[in-house]
Amino acid sequence: MRATMATDGTALRTGTNRVAGARAVRCILVLVVWMLAAGGAVADEEAPNTCVTCHSALPEPLNLPVEGMKSDIHATKGLSCVDCHGGDATLMDATSMAPEKGFRGKPKPADIPAFCGRCHSDGAYMRRFNPRLPTGQLEQYWTSIHGQRLKNGDDKVATCVSCHGVHGRIQDSHRPGREVQA
Ligand code: HEC
Ligand code: HEC
Ligand code: HEC
Ligand code: HEC
Repeated sequence: MRATMATDGTALRTGTNRVAGARAVRCILVLVVWMLAAGGAVADEEAPNTCVTCHSALPEPLNLPVEGMKSDIHATKGLSCVDCHGGDATLMDATSMAPEKGFRGKPKPADIPAFCGRCHSDGAYMRRFNPRLPTGQLEQYWTSIHGQRLKNGDDKVATCVSCHGVHGRIQDSHRPGREVQA
């Protein structure tokens, strides 16, 4: 009878330990999941980008910039939609694209040189990223045959994006030239 009790007791204790062990493992798992979730939530709060959230859910062509930007040199350098287009990437509705938020929208062909040149002809700004990158493209553009014709009202000529692309193709189309130059 005693032996049986002891055996039962041992079995019971072992069982209790197993339950306790399983409970501890579950606790740790819950903790890890919670920490990951909390970490993700914090990261989202630090870098909200409603431009990306909303545009990725829109039909073509409005969603294409989101995918394209993943391989864009501007994104690689930490820039995002608002750096080019302006607007407020913390607002999850159309007010994010309000002119009073500095929104520039989609530039017309005739406005593209100034749109890109705003940064690329700003020596002090560009030096923060790459001191050796030339900043004369806008000036050179206006003296080129394309620039001359654009000035005279012909907007079928090549602008910056005709050669470099935009939303991702910039880097791809550009790399071979860089390698030759380097
Ligand atoms: C809640 C959804 C939503 C958010 C947030 C949003 N957009 Fe849009 N965006 C749209 C829709 C819908 C259109 C197409 C209709 C229109 O032009 O208003 C559009 C159009 C655009 C266009 C083209 C405009 C044109 O002139 O043809 C650009 C550029 C753009 N968005 C950039 C941005 C940027 C940059 C942000 C973040 C600051 C942003 N969007 C935030 C829904 C959104
Ligand atoms: C390097 C500057 C730059 C960045 C960064 C950039 N865009 Fe653009 N975007 C442009 C230019 C320039 C055009 C006009 C292209 C053209 O006319 O061919 C444009 C056009 C658009 C259009 C209009 C597309 C169409 O076909 O009508 C939308 C929408 C847009 N951008 C959204 C975005 C969103 C969303 C992001 C961030 C994920 C973004 N852009 C990042 C420069 C930029
Ligand atoms: C908000 C400022 C800004 C705007 C607007 C902008 N860029 Fe840039 N661009 C940059 C920065 C910063 C770099 C990274 C330079 C580096 O670190 O090498 C860059 C890099 C580039 C490069 C690659 C240069 C290299 O390293 O070989 C090209 C090409 C380029 N941009 C073209 C464009 C075109 C075309 C437009 C207009 C559609 C445009 N950019 C608009 C800031 C800008
Ligand atoms: C007719 C085509 C064409 C047009 C238009 C054009 N580019 Fe370029 N761009 C090139 C080529 C080709 C290169 C040379 C690549 C190289 O030498 O590394 C280049 C080089 C660049 C570079 C890198 C500079 C370097 O030496 O590494 C930047 C930035 C740039 N362009 C921006 C612009 C901007 C901004 C505009 C509009 C104002 C523009 N480009 C217009 C074709 C063009």
